[in-house]
Amino acid sequence: MCGIVGITSNKQVTNSIINSLRKLEYRGYDSAGIATLNNGHINEVKSEGRVDVLEKNLSKSNLKGNVGIGHVRWATHGVPSTVNAHPHSSEKVSVVHNGIIENSTILKKYLIKKGHQFKSQTDTEVIVHLITEYLKKDDLKKSILKMLKKLHGSFALGIIFKDEPDLIIGARRGSPLAVGYGPNENYLGSDSYALKSMTNKISYLNDGEFCILKKDSVEFFDQKGNKVNKKILKLSSNEQSYEKGDYKHFMAKEIDEQPTTIKNCVNEYVDKINKEINIFNFPWKANEISSVVLIGCGTAYHSCLIGKYWFEKLTNLDVTVDIASEFRYRRVKFKKDALYIFVSQSGETADTFAALDLCNKNKVKTCSVVNVVESSIARESKFVLPIHCGPEIGVASTKAFLGQMLVLYILSLKIAKMRKEIDKKIYQEKINSLFDLSKLTNNSLETDSKIQSVCSSFVNIKGSMFLGRGLSFPIALEGALKLKELAYVHAEGYPAGEMKHGPLALIEEGMPVVVLAPRDEYYKKTISNMQEVIARGAKVLLITNKSKDEIHSENIWEKIEVENTSEDLLPFLITIPLQKLAYYSAFKKGYDIDKPRNLAKSVTVE
Ligand code: G6P
Repeated sequence: MCGIVGITSNKQVTNSIINSLRKLEYRGYDSAGIATLNNGHINEVKSEGRVDVLEKNLSKSNLKGNVGIGHVRWATHGVPSTVNAHPHSSEKVSVVHNGIIENSTILKKYLIKKGHQFKSQTDTEVIVHLITEYLKKDDLKKSILKMLKKLHGSFALGIIFKDEPDLIIGARRGSPLAVGYGPNENYLGSDSYALKSMTNKISYLNDGEFCILKKDSVEFFDQKGNKVNKKILKLSSNEQSYEKGDYKHFMAKEIDEQPTTIKNCVNEYVDKINKEINIFNFPWKANEISSVVLIGCGTAYHSCLIGKYWFEKLTNLDVTVDIASEFRYRRVKFKKDALYIFVSQSGETADTFAALDLCNKNKVKTCSVVNVVESSIARESKFVLPIHCGPEIGVASTKAFLGQMLVLYILSLKIAKMRKEIDKKIYQEKINSLFDLSKLTNNSLETDSKIQSVCSSFVNIKGSMFLGRGLSFPIALEGALKLKELAYVHAEGYPAGEMKHGPLALIEEGMPVVVLAPRDEYYKKTISNMQEVIARGAKVLLITNKSKDEIHSENIWEKIEVENTSEDLLPFLITIPLQKLAYYSAFKKGYDIDKPRNLAKSVTVE
């Protein structure tokens, strides 16, 4: 949610800032801007819309400078517009901000009384005027400390100063911020991905810290202003995985990558020779865990819901699932013998991070399942299980969802074994079936032509339902979410057995309904529910797995059959056609698939 970048160099910085902003566009894309320092003056160029628009405006403006900050915005306070786009500047200071300043109204009143004039509707502008006010009496460091103390809420900041020709301040509370080191230049960025084309040497600010960047030095400070020593991390360079290649969209590429990411993840966690799970340094013993709490947001929350079914079935533990934005504000009773598992692709989602932080403060066992191993959630949890998917750029999560499910499944097997809840033979069978999963998902990818032919029925409709039972219920939720976020079609995922308790009233002649009925223990029940919606006029797209058994139902509109595998792993195979359904529906409507309207990939505001 909003991306920030800053560069201090002995060269011109505008082009490099634009390149980094392009990489950060997944965080927000309603407006963009850049400010540089040139001959003792702050100059800025801002525009509504994408970085492309900003670049066009820049070509007319001849913005120059060796120090600069840039921003891509996902609006929180104030509509997307040029005036609300960042940076926000006074004559003395220019600021880019990611996050929300919760006490901005009070601060604004105070600053107006002091004679400051506001141009935008944003919360960010109070930061500019606070620093400008404090600089009247105090030096730079003291002014920054005073300003940071005044702010409530979450933020990552990049700040440049009219009177400091070589300097950028970075500060964070809640929102992520990285520092990069280069030859005669240093960088600030919302993530390492934004800086990757310039450096592979990175440090991360911890919560509450700030830093002073000059072209040949970087200093870090804690919230009291004491110096902090930082480790410099070396990032692996795999630029290829950040490119679209021949694909039209990252999402299409990321869907297609799933067999490979599954293979990599299985190889990482499962020992083929000994038929064992390689999670060696799991820090807790079987008798130290008596329940599991799974927490996430969006698609990650759906993988938690699936995890519940596996953990309950295999480990015989008490399992609850929570949405992070609810968990963090409830009066939760923390349990010392519970394992709190946080699932997040980015590892930066503000609500998930806050829920983790709350658990850490209550000294309970925390474990995270993340894609970005350098992320805040990974760094703050006691134990980390990476999903090994590689970068996911498309805003709608696809390969990370399968990766999260896979790691949760593997962990549930590991804990089941630790707790001696699983028969040795069954354990080995389940491990064996993991090795075939990648190949089987390959077949699910070959559903394009069928999906392309049905998707026109999902394009201009009032709404749609996705139904499933058991493990297929969270997949139904995920299928509906994908259609909403990409094709902007209202869709609801529902437990098939609940339809008759209300939503059946929504079914009308010709309404497309997706029924997920793999041949698992719920199959017959789901098929009965399918008949109930067909009887009321629904056009049913049935997604099941191949079998010799006939499906005893007439009038099915379309059917997609995925490969056979163990019941536990069928969710992986039936998810892929749903990802494609959303993709092709959005494609048909000509929507921006990788950057759906109003959304952003990394949600760093609560
Ligand atoms: C946003 C994204 C979703 C994602 C959710 C949680 O809403 O658009 O695709 O599932 O955030 O993100 P996380 O990085 O925590 O998995």
